[in-house]
Amino acid sequence: MKTRITELFGIQHPIMQGGMHFVGLAELASAVSNAGGLGTITALTQRTPADLANEIARCKTMTDKPFAVNITFLPALTPPDYPNYIKAVIDGGVKIVETAGNNPQKWMPMLKEAGIKVIHKCTSVRHSLKAEAIGCDAVSVDGFECGGHPGEDDVPNMILLPRAAEELKIPFVASGGMADARSLVAALAMGADGINMGTRFIATVEAPVHENVKKAIVAASELDTRLIMRGLRNTERVLDNAAVEKLIAKEKELGDKLTFADIIEEVAGVYPKIMTDGDMDAGAWSCGMVAGLIHDIPTCKELIDRIMADAETIIRGRLGGLLAA
Ligand SMILES: Cc1cc2nc3c(=O)[nH]c(=O)nc-3n(C[C@H](O)[C@H](O)[C@H](O)COP(=O)(O)O)c2cc1C
Repeated sequence: MKTRITELFGIQHPIMQGGMHFVGLAELASAVSNAGGLGTITALTQRTPADLANEIARCKTMTDKPFAVNITFLPALTPPDYPNYIKAVIDGGVKIVETAGNNPQKWMPMLKEAGIKVIHKCTSVRHSLKAEAIGCDAVSVDGFECGGHPGEDDVPNMILLPRAAEELKIPFVASGGMADARSLVAALAMGADGINMGTRFIATVEAPVHENVKKAIVAASELDTRLIMRGLRNTERVLDNAAVEKLIAKEKELGDKLTFADIIEEVAGVYPKIMTDGDMDAGAWSCGMVAGLIHDIPTCKELIDRIMADAETIIRGRLGGLLAA
């Protein structure tokens, strides 16, 4: 299948793996890229720019296909050393960057001068248009159903994707709620040029996380995610667990008075405990509603091959068959 995204990134299939904290390591990124998709290393999971440089080098020993690095721009009092993280990407010869969070405008000259293709993750049409205006090559449009940070507009992909298609000139991938060939074909029908998956790629053989995390995703239904931190305008969709229930009880009790400090125990530094140690109640971790569509733990190649084969069957068979001869 050829789309503007496969052409832009030089990949075989229009399937991307989004950056994921403590999941997007070289094992997963290389497995996705080797399967013909676009794998992504998550920069901020690496404690220093030097660690990121090592992770990029490690990934290069595992694949000779293109892969991306996710750089998430967080609003922080003491921001990470972004210039040197970007330098590690450039020096490492990575040619695709997925930006997320704050507007990446400040970093665009540095990235573009190095010949890097930039795909910015957006949760609204207006942010997507802004990304296009500042010179991003593509957008990853994240609907309300997505795992992680869906923004504050709450527009699901059934509306958001066709709206993005109405307005954008640059290519975009559909992100949030994507799991299988049905997702891919629907996303293409709504005007996207491919799909980006987060949660689905965690439940794969190569995802370098504890088995408990994969089993929790397979066990979860579409009813098992919760939205937290709404009051802080930092909404995150997470899998329900004991820590999340505790956090939500605090949100109810404190209402408008809630500050980040009140919930720090449930959200700060919890990822290694969950992803590495498999302590599933250690805190709040991002997970999409799409968990309800995830029933197995395939290899990345099995997953991607299945999506592409089933997509062809849907397009040529079911959809083609609906048309009168
Ligand atoms: C565990 C987890 C961690 C994530 N961490 C990040 C991150 O650090 N930076 C980022 O831009 N997106 C992050 N995301 C969002 C994903 O890249 C992707 O946009 C999202 O998962 C898509 O929705 P889906 O889970 O329904 O596929 C994370 C998602 C999950 C599930």
